[in-house]
Amino acid sequence: MDMLIQFAYVVSAALFIFGLKKLGSPATARRGNTISAVGMLVAIVAALLDQGIVDYQWIAIGFVAGGAIGAAAARLVQMTSMPEMVALFNGFGGLASLLVGWAALSPDAGTFTLITIVLSILIGGLTFTGSLIAYGKLSENIGSGAVLFSGQQVVNSLIVLGILGSAVMFCLQPGDMHWLYVVVGLSLVFGVMAVIPIGGADMPVVISLLNSYSGLAACAAGFAVDNNILIVAGSLVGASGIILTQIMCKAMNRSLANVLFSGFGSGKVEATEVEGEIKPISVEDAYYVLEAATNVAIIPGYGMAVAQAQHVVKELCELLEENGAEVNFGIHPVAGRMPGHMNVLLAEADVPYDQLLEMDDINPRMENVDVAIVIGANDVVNPAAREVESSPIYGMPVINVDMARTVFVLKRSMASGFAGIENPLFYKDNTRMLFGDAKESIGGLIREFS
Ligand code: TAP
Repeated sequence: MDMLIQFAYVVSAALFIFGLKKLGSPATARRGNTISAVGMLVAIVAALLDQGIVDYQWIAIGFVAGGAIGAAAARLVQMTSMPEMVALFNGFGGLASLLVGWAALSPDAGTFTLITIVLSILIGGLTFTGSLIAYGKLSENIGSGAVLFSGQQVVNSLIVLGILGSAVMFCLQPGDMHWLYVVVGLSLVFGVMAVIPIGGADMPVVISLLNSYSGLAACAAGFAVDNNILIVAGSLVGASGIILTQIMCKAMNRSLANVLFSGFGSGKVEATEVEGEIKPISVEDAYYVLEAATNVAIIPGYGMAVAQAQHVVKELCELLEENGAEVNFGIHPVAGRMPGHMNVLLAEADVPYDQLLEMDDINPRMENVDVAIVIGANDVVNPAAREVESSPIYGMPVINVDMARTVFVLKRSMASGFAGIENPLFYKDNTRMLFGDAKESIGGLIREFS
């Protein structure tokens, strides 16, 4: 039986890895998700058989309650609120590891087990409260700005020292639960303290990092309860979370330390001097320009998600193609509010994957583009990242829409994007602003075409 269970663990680990690999491309992501879910089912069944005494009644209650909450959340949560939901999931993952670690405590636990228990408790605890703060900031239930005060680094360092000191004391004197209570309390406090100095704009990166922590906590809990598949799954989550964090930092040309400690988005951003004037355009005039275009690039951003404009965007794309134009989409790695945000929305509208070009693929083609249509994107097309050395986003790779012959920017006002900075693109000679909700503006263009 034991052989069979270990074999099931190996099978589910392989399914996780295979599923993760498939998540790497929009074309196979859905299948990857299903494969990973099957892996999880195999793992759960094997783990239940692995434990000699299992109270199935509680498992059934947990299964029904958790399943109902998960199913309701998946149905009810708006696509734009997905990052908040992921933050909550991470937080509860951390809390679960804290509880599993704690439950694994026993009088005859050896030093190694004690260390893994303390690790699962402390990483799980800080992941829990850190994720709650990230959730609060993203959902704007609490202020999304960075909370900074003098001596913050010193206070945080003291908390870390306190956690490490009490963790060591607990491992040396496992009978004295007071040390463990201090580890739990300080870890919960540290989660809050570590996330409050980070501005709302950086929350997706923080969430990805916390996701990685929740994996590490699960991995430690796996050692604590001696469960191989929890160790493997935790490591996979830990590693993939950190890789995703790195990808996001690179796409914003910032270091992880800068994200965690600079207080970016705290409202202290200096205004950029912008030359030129705004040139609004009507839907009718925009249509005449588009009608004559043979090469069109569509660059979506967060505003497309807000307007839920993906379906009309696809319709416009088809009309442009029927009119003889080549249409491509330029996808910036941090467009929107979560990794792959634009890919998910455009996949929902059945836009063919081969029309989605990554930033590095569309940028060299931009000079041949007749019209670049920017739909609710702002920071990711901001030429200040290339041109204005004093800009907070200077050095961030952006989609160079300003190099197209004509640029249409679809947004409701002159409001800034998530980074809270001016965008000189709106003032360039070749830019026309099509003000209004993106869905309505595109709807207007579709009516003109038909
Ligand atoms: P943003 O720079 O946030 O700009 C979105 C624009 O959409 C706004 O300027 C807004 O202008 C417009 N908008 C909102 N609702 C609209 C509607 N209904 N119709 C038309 N326009 C609408 O978006 P972006 O260019 O996608 O950049 C993403 C930002 O998030 C970057 O700063 C990025 O660094 C940050 N970020 C993203 C991630 C990930 S993983 N995606 C991670 C970390 C940070 P109006 O209000 O005037 O309409």
